[in-house]
Amino acid sequence: MHQLINNEKYIIANWKMNGTKAKVLEALETWEKVETKHRFIFCPPICWAHLKQSDSQIKLGAQACHHKENGAYTGYISPLMLQELNCSYVLVGHSEQRPCPTQAILKAAYKHDIKPIWCIGHRESLPSAFNVEEEIQYLGEVLRTEKPDFDDYIIAYEPLSAIGTGKPLETRYIKQIIDHLKSSFRIKQPILYGGSVNLENAKEVLDITDGILLGSASLDIELMCEILRI
Ligand code: PGA
Repeated sequence: MHQLINNEKYIIANWKMNGTKAKVLEALETWEKVETKHRFIFCPPICWAHLKQSDSQIKLGAQACHHKENGAYTGYISPLMLQELNCSYVLVGHSEQRPCPTQAILKAAYKHDIKPIWCIGHRESLPSAFNVEEEIQYLGEVLRTEKPDFDDYIIAYEPLSAIGTGKPLETRYIKQIIDHLKSSFRIKQPILYGGSVNLENAKEVLDITDGILLGSASLDIELMCEILRI
């Protein structure tokens, strides 16, 4: 398991279904030159995954995968294929991917030596209706019933109300929720936060988490350089 040391955090750029080949190449070339103390994982559209050089400091992540190694599943990609593409990480259970058989995919990724980044968060909550106690209760239930039986994974806490809305969860709530998960459930795995992270709040969120997962903000190549230098 990769251990975070000396204020190192995970920084994940999830480009979703965005980016031309030229833009991915530009991002890789630019980010490669940035001096960062963080562990940086780039999840481009999978068709551009092969563009990353194998000796790069940037780690490659996939945005999703199926739980089977092969079969009649039109449009899907398997963990075996990701392994051959040199993906070291995969997002599992992202809200834009659900419903997907999260537990089966977590296991399948692990089997192929790909570290799962397990995205959890209440699916129904609206920004106006966010209730921290309910959220904690929901997450507790997810951890109780779906926690993998292996240790080498990362958790990304992503409240639905904050994803792609430009309305990040208040930092005090992020802290309260992550502290609770770590203490009450004895979570040893890194817990990241995702949902409308941008340059304004990145440092504040990094200070209270093990890392951040960025969607739309990560499409700005220069802004990402600044975040990597935090
Ligand atoms: P966002 O996306 O940063 O655009 O809110 C985050 C995510 O989907 O994980």
